[in-house]
Amino acid sequence: MKTLRVALDGPAGAGKSTVAKLVAKSLGLTYVDTGAMYRAITWKALQEQINPADEAALTAISSRVQIDFKLTSEGQDVFLDGVDITEEIRARDVTANVSAVSAVPGVRASLVKLQQEIANKMGVVMDGRDIGTVVLPDADVKIWLTASVEERARRRYEEMTAKGHQLDFEQLKRDIERRDELDSGREHSPMKRADDAVIVDTSGLGIEAVVEKILHICRSAE
Ligand code: C5P
Repeated sequence: MKTLRVALDGPAGAGKSTVAKLVAKSLGLTYVDTGAMYRAITWKALQEQINPADEAALTAISSRVQIDFKLTSEGQDVFLDGVDITEEIRARDVTANVSAVSAVPGVRASLVKLQQEIANKMGVVMDGRDIGTVVLPDADVKIWLTASVEERARRRYEEMTAKGHQLDFEQLKRDIERRDELDSGREHSPMKRADDAVIVDTSGLGIEAVVEKILHICRSAE
């Protein structure tokens, strides 16, 4: 079971990271949040005031920086060149720009290489948008995790307001729809369900039920 490679893709806010963490823990695999890597590059680009349309500069950043993860009891911390940016990469300006940055082929090339290197060394549950199609096309298990946009927005809204953030539900819903459009419409490695991925629709399901469903699929692939 240790070398199982699980690809977990799907649209924004489908609950991928929550589910992936729990599945990884239960199966003794390493959780890899690829969205955090694209967010880290976006954060760095914003810090250096690089225009998200400047492909050469973004490509240079992604081949230069070092991204590391450190497992914690809550999930994982994200480091860029040794600096802890776990909180920073969830900021609104990072979320607003990450789709543009992740559409750059040079950025994708560096990060896909890093993701494949990790998965070559250990069993993983890797969450993202192109894991089943591009990063690990021969993954042992491929899951497409989805839910209605209404439900995804509601969950994100509850999560953010519980943390004390103030936001407008309709705006949040539009932002999620916009990010999905950009991620699925881009030219290079668009967000796409792999033909052989199992669809898990989480609308109306609790986390435990979703995790159980995915564990069942993983155990059948052993
Ligand atoms: O998963 P998360 O919502 O944190 O991902 C942030 C963004 O990173 C996505 O909206 C997408 O633009 C990009 N991404 C990607 N490919 C992946 C993972 C994330 O393009 N494998």
